[in-house]
Amino acid sequence: MSKDRVVLAYSGGLDTSVAIGWIGEQTGSEVIAVAVDVGQGGEDLQVIRQRALGCGAVEAYVADAREEFATEYCMPALKANGMYQKRYPLVSALSRPLISKHLVKAAREFDATTVAHGCTGKGNDQVRFEVSITSIGPDLNCIAPVRDLALTRDVAIEYANKHSLPIETTKHNPFSIDQNVWGRAIETGFLEDIWNAPTKDVYNYTDDPTYPPLPDEVEIEFKQGVPVAIDGRPLSPLQIIQEMNRRAGAQGIGRIDIVEDRLVGIKSREIYEAPGAIALIAAHEELENVTVEREQARFKKTVDQRWAELVYDGQWFSPLKKSLDAFVDDTQYYVNGTIRMTLHGGRAVVTGRKTDSGLYDFNLATYETGDTFDQSHSRGFIEIYGLPAKMSAARDERFGRGL
Ligand code: ARG
Repeated sequence: MSKDRVVLAYSGGLDTSVAIGWIGEQTGSEVIAVAVDVGQGGEDLQVIRQRALGCGAVEAYVADAREEFATEYCMPALKANGMYQKRYPLVSALSRPLISKHLVKAAREFDATTVAHGCTGKGNDQVRFEVSITSIGPDLNCIAPVRDLALTRDVAIEYANKHSLPIETTKHNPFSIDQNVWGRAIETGFLEDIWNAPTKDVYNYTDDPTYPPLPDEVEIEFKQGVPVAIDGRPLSPLQIIQEMNRRAGAQGIGRIDIVEDRLVGIKSREIYEAPGAIALIAAHEELENVTVEREQARFKKTVDQRWAELVYDGQWFSPLKKSLDAFVDDTQYYVNGTIRMTLHGGRAVVTGRKTDSGLYDFNLATYETGDTFDQSHSRGFIEIYGLPAKMSAARDERFGRGL
């Protein structure tokens, strides 16, 4: 009988490199290593692939999922102005379902029964992986060697040295970092003392906003809530995010320092940098202000928040998230036009809007002569609109509860 197979989400780092042999020893299975490129940059992914094979994987491959990530994960997040606790643009939360999708695909291709990831038992990512994996492949098992097979850091270093694995064991980054094209998350180390300010070395996507270069003016064109061009140049979603990362990053936009509520009940200190995401969300929100009808816009704020919570909580493939997507998409029909922003000194400030599908009516809004708003109607409107408040105030008066 042939051996069982495990597909491992492989990053190229120490833990997942050791996990290849470790899973083999602990479970008797063959390991297929899958690295998913979501624009994390850093090492050449072919080098990572070779390392996986060098560490004993029977197969290893790299999936270039950058355009897919930008188009099918970051763009829906932008349409929903996706921010957890109003501040975190869901960087890691967005990539996990996509990575999961590719893991399940690999499991099918290579006839694996189990999918493995390198998360610990304390974070959100383990939940996101496993809930996503079993949402797409309900028959698959999940294992997490660091959490379930006692692969601690000391064990990992010892194992790598003993087996002369082609991986560095001496360099230890003081932080736990996860990054992709939508942003970068930095945690642990001295940041765990929530009084400690982040130091310069924490940041990589952004320059110090205290010493910005000259202001940078940018025009972003949207079609149905999705950015399609920058300064008149048509670009793909991935290219737009990359260009905005570069330009907003140079101005130190999108640095976030927050204590957030993890799904597993822990409050944790996180530093994020998401220059492109933060600038794009600011532009998108303003275009919505001009184009989305008032009641729809008010209700959408609640939907946006719920959407972000679901995605944060690992429910990307859930029925409710799908229903909310349908609502969000419907609201984006008229979100077309161009937003002009000035990027400078850590801030992306909108200075102009242009749209032919907006609801802003100059002639209604103007205080100049010739406006089309009939002010005589306001009197009657307020009379009736204020009637319930007036009636109940009179009743309070009668019962001695007046102001
Ligand atoms: N706390 C963030 C989240 O749950 C970031 C997690 C990043 N993961 C990491 N290994 N640093 O989305």
